[in-house]
Amino acid sequence: MTDRDSYDFIVVSNRLPVDRVVDPDGTARWQRSPGGLVTALEPVMRASDGAWVGWAGKPDLELEPFTADDTYLVPVTLSADEVADYYEGFSNDTLWPLYHDVIAPPSYHREWWDAYVRVNRRFAEQSAAIAAPGATVWVQDYQLQLVPKMLRERRPDLVIGFFNHIPFPPYGIYAQLPWRRQIVEGLLGADVIGFQRVADAGNFTRAVRRLYGANSTKGSEVKVPVAQGEAPRTAIAKAFPISIDAAMFEELARQPAVQERAAEIRRELGNPETIYLGVDRLDYTKGIRHRLKAFGELLRDGRTTAGDSVLVQVASPSRERVEAYMQLRDEIELTVGRINGDYATIGHSAIAYLHHGYPREEMVALYLAADVMLVTALRDGMNLVAKEYVACRHDNDGVLILSEFAGAADELKNALLVNPHDIEGLKDAMTAAAGMPQRERASRMRALRKRVRENDVARWSRGFLDELARAKDAR
Ligand code: F6P
Repeated sequence: MTDRDSYDFIVVSNRLPVDRVVDPDGTARWQRSPGGLVTALEPVMRASDGAWVGWAGKPDLELEPFTADDTYLVPVTLSADEVADYYEGFSNDTLWPLYHDVIAPPSYHREWWDAYVRVNRRFAEQSAAIAAPGATVWVQDYQLQLVPKMLRERRPDLVIGFFNHIPFPPYGIYAQLPWRRQIVEGLLGADVIGFQRVADAGNFTRAVRRLYGANSTKGSEVKVPVAQGEAPRTAIAKAFPISIDAAMFEELARQPAVQERAAEIRRELGNPETIYLGVDRLDYTKGIRHRLKAFGELLRDGRTTAGDSVLVQVASPSRERVEAYMQLRDEIELTVGRINGDYATIGHSAIAYLHHGYPREEMVALYLAADVMLVTALRDGMNLVAKEYVACRHDNDGVLILSEFAGAADELKNALLVNPHDIEGLKDAMTAAAGMPQRERASRMRALRKRVRENDVARWSRGFLDELARAKDAR
């Protein structure tokens, strides 16, 4: 891909798909970030002169566009104040808790909103400036909900898609947002608005009806309110559940070195009967406290012991300057310390708590080592960890405990589905998973794997882009 003036396919997301790494000799370079979105869109990018617009992840970084891994990247600069107000503030302390069932109280600040508008406008301007006539622009996630409308105002020729990676809340919650109308209008600038679950798409169309009247939607079609004299227009609001590159995970899991590492992890943990595993960003939506509570009570009640069981909790650092995340970290670490203090022995920890991110190979080895995967989110758009675990288990073994409140539960019906608020139910599921007969484990895992293999991330992006192509044809 070369540095051209304009591009036919543009992805716009808060973060660019690369991380800046500084080598020991002090030279900085860009490394592809491991996210599924990057993998999903890579073939589309290659086939269609693609460019990616996003923030490079550091404040006040003024960078010229550059090419990395064959992708033309257009960095958007954010000042330190904008990182605080647009990213940490409005995106992650207003929208994030609001869209996740107000698990933490959202803060509403007008100056955060102003920064959100300003930064969304910058993303829209930079995207409009490099889009070829009639280009397709695909905007990602809740940080950029105003971009579709802003883009359309500048460039009505563009075909615009938007995908929301997190839940869209019921109107009773959404209605709290002082800027609820502006956000819905922003989204309606897109031709296709994608959601993780059917329920999210339904919440969105219900919000449209509450704001614009009962006749404003029909099925997945939304009649977009337009100014007098403007041509009428419809948008599509539908579910497109995101997934992972399942084949890539399976391939990694079949590598002898990864399998050897899985065996080594088991040995290092003292060969317990049951390894429970949690893998999450350290976020209050993930239900980490609930799973610690359940495990602590199983130990207290003598239903298991340190030595028989261990809980490995990988909690990767996230949004560390946001108060709710700081508090959560303190609570989790206090609880882990208490449980280990009460139940660990000299030879056996009860909980192995790891506050780091790990390379993908190490994660896959952990998935292979884990007898029971715990996904206990209180609310989650999808939860790709659940799908990664399943994709790796080519041995048809391992049990997935999955929260009903994760989008993945709509698809992964053969998991042990739990309500993470019901601590007794969670404890029973953890015990049942540890003692599940091999035949049942295998038959559940086979069914889960079929689902994850068939609905992989390539299918997700194809489904969305086909819908967008239909919207273009219908113009
Ligand atoms: O989908 C949720 C999301 O916010 C993504 O947009 C993002 O890539 C990921 O979680 C990690 O969050 P952050 O970019 O705030 O570190």
